[in-house]
Amino acid sequence: MFFLPEMRGRRFRAVLPYYIDMAKGLILGIESSCDETAAAVVRAGEELLSSVVASQFTAHKPYGGVVPELAAREHLRAIAPVVRKALADANTTLESIDAIAVTQGPGLAGALLVGISYAKALAFALDKPLLAVNHLEGHIHAVLLEERQRGNREMRFPLLALVVSGGHTHLYLATQRGNSWTYENIGRTRDDAAGEAFDKVAKLLALGYPGGPIIETLATHGNASAVKFAGVQLKGTPRNVSKKQPARDWEKQTFDFSYSGIKTSMLRYAELHEMEQEIQQRKEALAKIAKPSLEDVLKVTSKATLDLVASFQRAMVEDLASKTVAAIREMNAATLFVTGGVAANSELRREFEEEAGMEGVPVYFPSRRMSTDNAAMIAAAAYPKFLAQDFAEESFSAEASLQLK
Ligand code: KG4
Ligand code: ZN
Repeated sequence: MFFLPEMRGRRFRAVLPYYIDMAKGLILGIESSCDETAAAVVRAGEELLSSVVASQFTAHKPYGGVVPELAAREHLRAIAPVVRKALADANTTLESIDAIAVTQGPGLAGALLVGISYAKALAFALDKPLLAVNHLEGHIHAVLLEERQRGNREMRFPLLALVVSGGHTHLYLATQRGNSWTYENIGRTRDDAAGEAFDKVAKLLALGYPGGPIIETLATHGNASAVKFAGVQLKGTPRNVSKKQPARDWEKQTFDFSYSGIKTSMLRYAELHEMEQEIQQRKEALAKIAKPSLEDVLKVTSKATLDLVASFQRAMVEDLASKTVAAIREMNAATLFVTGGVAANSELRREFEEEAGMEGVPVYFPSRRMSTDNAAMIAAAAYPKFLAQDFAEESFSAEASLQLK
């Protein structure tokens, strides 16, 4: 139905039908970029009416990471019931929704396509506008949604946003003109994202999946000063430096991140300290338990491993915070957002609060459940586009590497 020739190049709505209420702005958001199938209903980018997230945790757990084909299949299975529940929880119906918003990218192409096809089908069938949203903009709007809910509508600019998740470690300078937001990427990971490093380290130490929350819990039982890592410091030339054009101040300096080195350091440390046997025993012991508790993991984890894990978390958090503080100074940022799955980490929050506090810059995080992937953030990020009537083209498709601008 989506590929009929006469539909190509058209937008979902050029003229809004009379029954669409711009002021009400009741948006159904759909998110399927990675391993969470999510739907939510948000009013006018500021009132959360429902948010449903179906995790694919059990499907991917045996592989210690997200398997793209499995993800797409699980999204197909979950999407209809998740959307139904989001509407029911919001006490509304598809007919009452003013627009549908869906994640276009970045993410896994097959996974994204499930959400996009479903959203397109709904938009066609219901004759409603469809909005395509960048997942990273969603993470930024998760903060705005919750701040607006608290009555805080005024943010001071320049606004710096660190999006730190399983797929991204990106620093953006955000600007707002009227209703529309624009973003300039001033730093990013050159290799592994921070969340990816948490996940890979947990996997190599056989601690479980996903790594972030497990490492956070185990780290409280270890000594974070026990092991020092050199691997997080970024070496090499700053990007964006052109010989022809004079660089702006910040372009002389890099705010890029790199986390593959620390993962290798962890591996070497484990080999050097003969941890293989403990790792193998833990792997076998935890494989027998469907959902291992903290006690189960602690029983098969030595003090040396707990110290290593705590030191790893400390190194990650310190590096993220110090690069962000350098960017705050350079850009004269007046506000800091820290968002994305890794922003759920309590030690990270403490460190950023302290560091940003010393710079005199207020720092905002989403609540823990809004830090990780959800569809409320997609519905919230879509609202300014809805007001601007910036609707998706009918031919739009998934963009695995979609940039945020
Ligand atoms: O934003 P998100 O749900 O999905 C992506 O867009 O990637 O982030 C998931 C990532 C995973 O790598 C997970 O290990 C990490 O966020 N994460 C954490 C914590 N909770 C989730 N990392 C550190 N500490 C946590 N508490
Ligand atoms: Zn995400």
